[in-house]
Amino acid sequence: MNKQLVLLCFICTLFACKTHQNLKTAASEPHRPKFHFTPQANWMNDPNGMVYYEGEYHLFYQYYPNATVWGPMHWGHAVSRDLVNWEHLPIALYPDSLGLIFSGSAVVDWNNSSGFGQNGKPPLVAIFTQHSMEKEKAGRSDFQYQSLAYSNDKGRTWTKYKNNPIIPNTLKIRDFRDPKVVWDEDSKQWVMVFAAHDHIKIWTSKDLKNWQHQSDFGREWGTHAGVWECPDMFKIKVDGTGESKWVLLQSLNPGSPNGGSGTQYLVGNFDGKNFTLDPSFASSVQNGNAVWLDYGRDNYAGVTWSDIPKKDGRRIFMGWMSNWDYATLVPTQAWRSAMTIPRSLNLQNTPNGLRLVSQPVQELKSLRKNTYTIESQVINGLKDITTGTSLKDATIELELQFEMPAAPVTQIGIQLSNALGETYSIGYDLVRQAFLSDRSKSGKQAFSEKFGAKVDFAPRQSNDKFIRMHLFIDRASCEMFADEGTVVTTNIFFPTEDFNKVQLFSKGGAVTLISGNLYNL
Ligand code: FRU
Repeated sequence: MNKQLVLLCFICTLFACKTHQNLKTAASEPHRPKFHFTPQANWMNDPNGMVYYEGEYHLFYQYYPNATVWGPMHWGHAVSRDLVNWEHLPIALYPDSLGLIFSGSAVVDWNNSSGFGQNGKPPLVAIFTQHSMEKEKAGRSDFQYQSLAYSNDKGRTWTKYKNNPIIPNTLKIRDFRDPKVVWDEDSKQWVMVFAAHDHIKIWTSKDLKNWQHQSDFGREWGTHAGVWECPDMFKIKVDGTGESKWVLLQSLNPGSPNGGSGTQYLVGNFDGKNFTLDPSFASSVQNGNAVWLDYGRDNYAGVTWSDIPKKDGRRIFMGWMSNWDYATLVPTQAWRSAMTIPRSLNLQNTPNGLRLVSQPVQELKSLRKNTYTIESQVINGLKDITTGTSLKDATIELELQFEMPAAPVTQIGIQLSNALGETYSIGYDLVRQAFLSDRSKSGKQAFSEKFGAKVDFAPRQSNDKFIRMHLFIDRASCEMFADEGTVVTTNIFFPTEDFNKVQLFSKGGAVTLISGNLYNL
């Protein structure tokens, strides 16, 4: 061992000790969410390998175990039986001679098409990008490619496939990553989509090991204001019809509507070779236009769980609750980043065309401790709704229904605050006809000028005369499902002290709150 290595090991040992302390004091850590998934210590980004098998939802994630900033990537691992409580498990995949372990997906190979199964049990198969730092440093362009690993013990241990990579980068495309694999029942084959800078590549396979390139999609559609990453492609029913469509989720960085990283989506059809846009959807994604899954600043690289049982039938999504604009700078200590709450996606026919609607998964209702009914009332100015409730830990869920006011009302919404005068406001702006999120006075933000500089907006999609806002607040984040999930915003913030007051506001005039519920979580 050389001197540098010894020093490094020493630091790591110290660090492991620190990590242990951090675990013990997790509950008292500033900004540590209570019901969102966070790594026990150190850096996390994208969710990976989300698959359901034998009663367990697996969550793997981009993980750097030696620091709270991005570094050589591993796959961290956790499992849950209810999508609410997570058990941390040891690191699942470590870098090897082919490179770091970047984002990817996992499936249950029910029919043992790969031959990796044992004792009549299907293997879990993970397919991910490997990134070779050596090749990149050597100035080559083919430093990303797709590899495979399998598990015969419910994801606890993994064996890397001896013939990796399964898809080499013969085209020498620098951004060539984030494979998402799905079984297509119609064409009876495995389908993989991955991102190649400004488009997605579609490959198919019969055995998960040998893959054929079928087609490319996306150069002409949606926004290209950033690099395309982390696609997901799945078949989904159109609510209330017998029809199904294919949806392509496509994250990109930068280029999101309020800045930095975000996720657009496209609706179409898949014939076993090509993804083609649904003609009704084309006008929404022409000339650089995009349709967004979430208008907040902090929902990136999200994908959906594989192998949710048919009788459940949901398409469950989770994203990384941060933004590359400032992710490595946010003021948390032992760890960096949380995941969003899990959401169920539905495809609906709306006046604007086919649109995804997001709802918090119903399992989250198990978190509700106390329910407080907020009486119907007229709000003019600020009205405290904290009275009589307990806001311990600033973890609450709020369901509010307002009657849509008219001019001269300019804004209505919810303001969180603390004794230091720090505030986070979220609501609806009548002049812009858009939902707003304002974290410009929400506390710590000197870490990045891109964090809180402006108010963010999300155009309303509904014409309903009632306006509904469903919020999940977890110390350092607010997820809003507005108008039954047709507009979603996810935003993080870092108050110096937890927010302990919730007020409703109406600016410019009065608004009627029809009904409201506040739940302690
Ligand atoms: C998205 C991303 C992926 C990549 C991973 C690396 O946030 O850049 O494209 O696989 O993070 O950690």
